[in-house]
Amino acid sequence: MSTAAAPAIRHYLQFGDFSADEYAHLFARAALIKKKFKTYEKHQPLTDRTLAMIFEKASTRTRVSFEAGMYQMGGSVVHLTTGDSQLGRAEPIEDSAKVISRMVDLVMIRTFEQAKIEAFAAHSRVPVINGLTNEFHPCQILADIFTYIEHRGSIQGKTVAWVGDGNNMANTWLQAAEILGFTVHVSTPTGYEVDQAVAGVRSSSSYKVFKDPMEACRGADLVTTDVWTSMGYEAENEARRQAFADWCVDQDMMRIAKPDALFMHCLPAHRGEEVEAEVIDGPQSVVWDEAENRMHVQKALMEYLLLGRIS
Ligand code: CP
Ligand code: NVA
Repeated sequence: MSTAAAPAIRHYLQFGDFSADEYAHLFARAALIKKKFKTYEKHQPLTDRTLAMIFEKASTRTRVSFEAGMYQMGGSVVHLTTGDSQLGRAEPIEDSAKVISRMVDLVMIRTFEQAKIEAFAAHSRVPVINGLTNEFHPCQILADIFTYIEHRGSIQGKTVAWVGDGNNMANTWLQAAEILGFTVHVSTPTGYEVDQAVAGVRSSSSYKVFKDPMEACRGADLVTTDVWTSMGYEAENEARRQAFADWCVDQDMMRIAKPDALFMHCLPAHRGEEVEAEVIDGPQSVVWDEAENRMHVQKALMEYLLLGRIS
């Protein structure tokens, strides 16, 4: 019997968990995997592997992209929610992690506090993927940057304007900028700023804060936003509606950005709130590619976490 140590498990809990070199690999694999999908060529490196998906918040894109992606790669999925599992009846997260990870090969979790997914990962025998927490949404930014690259080439040295809440998406953009070498112009209402410590970035050199959202968009290569009220913050809905009224991405903001600037939104979107219909449904918007690419990049991510670098 071999006594060699098992390779360390890699988790994907925040964008900073991978290096620029690993992202280059993932983007290349995602492009190949997408091409195969489009030409009906089978890509089934995960035959007989099982992904458990745990949702403590609602989802359309994350569920469909992980579930369809896993089946396409030859594997299968188990779908759990707080309401239909013992997670909703106060079974400790550590115990749930020990049990679930003995039966599946990979776990994706969408939950509230980042601390919860970290506790799960610490007791898991298999890789854990963050499918959104209050603090981060790394799979979404993975898809967004892949989409940028598809349309415009490398994001290195480019400027991304973030207009809106200093939320999980904003935090993840800041982490990505630090790793991949671009700049984020952040404009949020007072009281909803990004917190560098929560975002987990080392310095402020890859982002710049603007009071005026128009100034954040000036000369940007990509303008992006998100809902005013994220899941879990619904009690603040009315206060947020008032505070965010001037943080609606409109055609003037797109005009002050670079002429070839793209618009992205992780969706779901509220037309007339964080974005004008003319922008999200306009020629600079790539939101549908962005949504589709969730599946392609996550297939590359699952392949990498389970099999390492294959070519
Ligand atoms: N963008 C995103 O994560 O969408 P869902 O909430 O529908 O999964
Ligand atoms: N910031 C949003 C993203 C939804 C995909 C939320 O957390 O609800």
